[in-house]
Amino acid sequence: MISFSATTQDVAKVRADLLAVPFFADRVPGPGGDIVEKAFGGGLKTFLEGAGFSGKPGETIVVPLNGKTAAKNAVLIGLGARDEVDAATLRRAGAALARRAAKASSIVTTVAGAADNGLTAEAAAGAFAEGVILGSYKFLEYKSEGEQTKLRKVSLASTGGAKVQAALKRAQVITEAVAWARDMVNEPAGAKSPTEFAAAARRLLTGKGVRVTILNEAQMRTQKMGGVLGVGQGSVRPPRFVKVVYEPTGKKARGTLALVGKGVIFDSGGLSIKPAQGMETMKTDMSGAAAVLATMATLRALGVKHRVVAYAPMVENMPSGNAIRPGDVLKMRNGKTVEVLNTDAEGRLILADALALAVTDGSDAMVDLATLTGACVVALGEKVAGLMGNDSGWVDQVRSASDRAGEPTWPLPLPDEYRKLLESEVADLRNIGTSGMGGALTAGIFLEAFVDEVPWAHLDIAGPARAGSDDGELTKGGTGFGVRTLVELVEHFDPPAPKPKKPKKSARKPPKKSARKPPKKSTKSTRTSRTSSTTA
Ligand code: BES
Ligand code: MN
Ligand code: ZN
Repeated sequence: MISFSATTQDVAKVRADLLAVPFFADRVPGPGGDIVEKAFGGGLKTFLEGAGFSGKPGETIVVPLNGKTAAKNAVLIGLGARDEVDAATLRRAGAALARRAAKASSIVTTVAGAADNGLTAEAAAGAFAEGVILGSYKFLEYKSEGEQTKLRKVSLASTGGAKVQAALKRAQVITEAVAWARDMVNEPAGAKSPTEFAAAARRLLTGKGVRVTILNEAQMRTQKMGGVLGVGQGSVRPPRFVKVVYEPTGKKARGTLALVGKGVIFDSGGLSIKPAQGMETMKTDMSGAAAVLATMATLRALGVKHRVVAYAPMVENMPSGNAIRPGDVLKMRNGKTVEVLNTDAEGRLILADALALAVTDGSDAMVDLATLTGACVVALGEKVAGLMGNDSGWVDQVRSASDRAGEPTWPLPLPDEYRKLLESEVADLRNIGTSGMGGALTAGIFLEAFVDEVPWAHLDIAGPARAGSDDGELTKGGTGFGVRTLVELVEHFDPPAPKPKKPKKSARKPPKKSARKPPKKSTKSTRTSRTSSTTA
């Protein structure tokens, strides 16, 4: 573990292996640059020019300090344009430093002092520390060789006092959660059956001030969770359903926020089996559940003021003699029936039960995270999550949380026009659209059938749950995407106004005449305004 502290001492005199100093674009020195220039002994600019260091974000170079300071060498870190330095720049800088200095055990740095456009000292320190820890992350569980970072101590030059200390502590708590989520995603599916994944969650959450309940198959049957049971029935490793409750201390608590995460520990596609290549990374398919559970581990330590409940259905999607078949009909927890035409569209089936449970539990707002569709990756690429929902104000809260966290999301619509693509001949809904197009949207529309009138947002994280290479604070493999967004969201949670109740069109006992149609949605105008307002 890397420990962080703030110091008001002269950085030239702080004992450390390395002195890390920021430089802006065109080699403009940041705070502490004068110390490096003096110790280097003149001609630093020419030296940097020759070495090809210009001060672009993420660039680093080691420079000798010739015994003139307590640290032997300096690492210069590029931050780019001075007036564009923000939290994301500092996170990236921290990660670049962590990679460059993985062999050093201690660092003293002035980097967090380089932000002067509206970023507080504590926000700067927190973002930088996040970057250092996340950039140091390595999954070496199964490597015979390979070393964890040697870095143990980072001292930040700062006059920010207690607020900076608190921000550093907060960064520790959050990044520890992110690292747990990454570990779980990187773990091979063979080593994380639903039972084992649930047990790992219980271990993580023990002593974290939350209540954990794990449902087995019999208990899920009692709860009528036909989606989770149906998807899970093809695997010899039975499904589990993890529910975690956080109750804030003190009386100020307002509202309950539900976090729902897709926990498919391996997605072979089931009988609608994926091609070999499509399966290679499908141990990643539980990233939503990992992010949601990891977030629950931070709430007590961060003093979150709202009630938060996590729902993580865990299954393995496998073909077998006992697997669900294309054409089978499942009855979900809320009574709606679903014709499963493609067993590879399994995520929505397990989320349906989880969302329906969150509704009857009395959530004031819900957000789900799911590696749901390849279509979303086609639309937004590997770095940006798709954001959908039924309440523009609530979607905006999720959007700004993700902006603050530095985890990119982008709104996608849930068009009324596509609703009919999910009409089934035999059941209330089909689990894939009749058109192959717009798959991220039809998946979102499917989920919406299980949230009733509760304000709900959906993050399709199929792209950003995994990184193809080290990039800034992200490391190759599982990214833990969503943890930082969810932490921001719960910290700033403002319970949205309840939505007006729709006239009850019971899905349990549909009148004979409308039995062939899925329940109609609310009035056109309401839908349209909701849809367009998420397309900001
Ligand atoms: N887990 C996949 C989605 C996915 C694909 C995540 C690629 C990450 C990378 C999901 O369960 C799935 O298979 N979705 C299908 C849906 C289709 C059958 C309607 C897909 O996207 O192809
Ligand atoms: Mn699938
Ligand atoms: Zn899947």
